[in-house]
Amino acid sequence: MSSGGADLRHFLAGLAWPEPQGPLFDPDTAPADPVELFVRWLREAVDRGAPAPHVMTLATVDAAGRPDARVTVLEDVDDAAFWVAASESSPKGKQLGRVPVAALVFHWPLQGRQVRVRGTVRPAGEARTAAAFERLSAHERAELLVDRQSGPLHDEEWLSNALGDPTELLELEGAGPAAAPTWRLWGVDAGRMEFFQAARDGHHVRLRYSRDESGYATELLRP
Ligand SMILES: Cc1cc2nc3c(=O)[nH]c(=O)nc-3n(C[C@H](O)[C@H](O)[C@H](O)COP(=O)(O)O)c2cc1C
Repeated sequence: MSSGGADLRHFLAGLAWPEPQGPLFDPDTAPADPVELFVRWLREAVDRGAPAPHVMTLATVDAAGRPDARVTVLEDVDDAAFWVAASESSPKGKQLGRVPVAALVFHWPLQGRQVRVRGTVRPAGEARTAAAFERLSAHERAELLVDRQSGPLHDEEWLSNALGDPTELLELEGAGPAAAPTWRLWGVDAGRMEFFQAARDGHHVRLRYSRDESGYATELLRP
């Protein structure tokens, strides 16, 4: 296959969506709370053996209004927000701090499901960030101590030496979150969420939740 042109277009056109497995979502069974529905879908993805079901795309915007996106993991979710970890020194951390809005996309292809979240962003308080830091492995914490994420990798050997013995590094620097002061959790408000269920017959379902002062309203959208 060549790297472009008709061959590649033909190849792409031949790639099919996987047939959605398992029971399809019936919007009549949707709860009033979209976070409850998200957790239900996440558990169903886990039960069906979805690879990395907690992995999502995090989209942000920089100060010039340019969009950016990357894959991250979901650290936590509650009725107020979806929580993601990012260092303030990384591009995404700077973007979240300066333009506090974000979008998340979860994709569970085996079930033909997508969840989209859009909302304002706020940094977590110290207690929540500290609890998340404690859950990290020694290697992950050590990485944060030498954190310059997304900076140029000038000295790979130095980095691998620094990470070679995370215990020693953590003892030297202190293992608490104060030792990695730029790392924190960020909450993406669940003010607007959309659930997409692909159907075998092409009658896909899209259900949108939008929140105002009186709570969530739902709306079915054309697929
Ligand atoms: C499966 C997967 C999971 C990832 N999870 C995270 C994560 O939880 N946090 C993180 O900072 N980067 C994570 N990354 C790396 C990011 O995609 C990205 O490369 C990095 O955070 C730098 O992004 P930035 O330059 O936009 O700040 C993950 C990458 C992959 C492929």
